[in-house]
Amino acid sequence: MTTLEDLVNPGIRSLTPYEPGKPIEELAREQGLAPEEICKLASNENPLGPSPLALRAIREALPQVHLYPDGAGRLLREAIARHHDLSVENVVLGNGSNEIIELLFHVFVLPRSHEILCSRHAFAVYRLMAQLFDTPCRETPDPEFRHDLVAMRKAIGPNTRLIFVTSPNNPTGTRIPNHELKAFIEAVPRHAVVALDEAYVDFLDDPPPSLSWVREGRNVVLLRTFSKMQGLAGLRIGYGLAPAPIASWLQRARQPFNTNLLAQAAAIAALEDRDHTEKTRRIVGAGRARLEESFGQQGLEFVPSSGNFVMVRVGDGDALFHCLLRRGWIVRPLRSYGLAEWVRVSVGTPEEVTEFLEIFPAALSETRRALAPSEA
Ligand SMILES: Cc1ncc(COP(=O)(O)O)c(C=O)c1O
Repeated sequence: MTTLEDLVNPGIRSLTPYEPGKPIEELAREQGLAPEEICKLASNENPLGPSPLALRAIREALPQVHLYPDGAGRLLREAIARHHDLSVENVVLGNGSNEIIELLFHVFVLPRSHEILCSRHAFAVYRLMAQLFDTPCRETPDPEFRHDLVAMRKAIGPNTRLIFVTSPNNPTGTRIPNHELKAFIEAVPRHAVVALDEAYVDFLDDPPPSLSWVREGRNVVLLRTFSKMQGLAGLRIGYGLAPAPIASWLQRARQPFNTNLLAQAAAIAALEDRDHTEKTRRIVGAGRARLEESFGQQGLEFVPSSGNFVMVRVGDGDALFHCLLRRGWIVRPLRSYGLAEWVRVSVGTPEEVTEFLEIFPAALSETRRALAPSEA
C-alpha cells in the first residue's frame, strides 16, 4: 500500500532540518525565567539592536501595511546599487540572504544531475538546500578550519554548478586572504557559478574587491544580508549582487512579493546609518577580542574570528550548552556541524560579554565535573 511517506519527494524525506539558535521565549518557558533574565549569544545578531534610522522608517511605513510591497523592490535595489556603485540590474532581493541561496538552486541546479561544492565546516544551509534539491554536495577539507581553495579548484567537476565560498565563514569565523580569493575566482571554469557568501564582510577591515568581480561579469553572486551589521535579522532581508544576466535569472525565480514592505523601508534607511555601523564594528571588535583573550587565558583552543562570534573548544559542547541554558545564557552547540566539542558564542554588548566571562568558567568546570565524576 502506498504510504504518505512514499508521496514525499526524496529530498524532503532525507532532510535534516536546520537547527536555529534557541529562541529566548522558549527558554524562558522551559526554565521558568523571565525573558529579561535571558541572554542570547547564539545567532550572531547585532548586540546593539536595529539601526535607529531603520526603526524610524518602519514606524513611518506602518500605516501602509495593508498594501502589497513593491514587488520589484525598486527603491531598495536602487539604494543598494548606489551604495555599492553598481547598477540596479545587478541587485536581487531575498527574504534573508538564505532565499538567494535557494534561488541559486532553482536557477542553476538540476536535481540528481548536478552537484554543488562547499568547504567542510561551511554554513549549513548550502548542504541543507542541496538535500532539499536531491543534489550531491561535495565538501573539501578545511585544514585549521580554513577554506582550501586549491582543493576546491581541483574538486570542480563537469557537473559542478554551484560553488559556495564563505568568507568570513560561519561557524568557524575564518576568512580567506584576498589574494587567494581573487586567484580562485579568476580560475573557476565558466560552467560553474561561485556564490561568495559575504554575510559578515562588513566586519572585515580589508574586504576583498568582490564588487569588481561583479562589474567584470564573472560567474559570481555575492550574498549579502541586513541581518548582521544592520541588525534587521527579524525582518528577513538580504540580497545578491551579480552581473546583470545572472541577476535577471535569479529575479525570474523569486516569488512576486518575496520581501515585505517594512523590511524594504528599514533596509533603505539602515544602509545609510553610518553611526550605527561604526558603533557596531567597534563594539564587536572589542567584545570579540575580550572573548578570545579570555578563552586563551583559560587554556582553551579557539579559532581567531573575523566575524561577530567566536568558536571555542570546550570538551562537550552539548553539556556546556545545557549548563549555560540553566543559567539563562543561550550559545550555539555545534554537534550538527560535526564539532561536538565546540560551541559558538556571538559577541554581545560590553556588559553581556563581561557577565558571560564571569559565569563561563564556573559553567565549564561544572560540565567537566559531570563528565568525570570520579575525579570530582
Ligand atoms: C554565512 C551565512 N550566510 C547566510 C546567512 C543567512 O542570513 P540571512 O538569511 O539572515 O540573511 C547566515 C546567517 O547566519 C550566515 O551565517
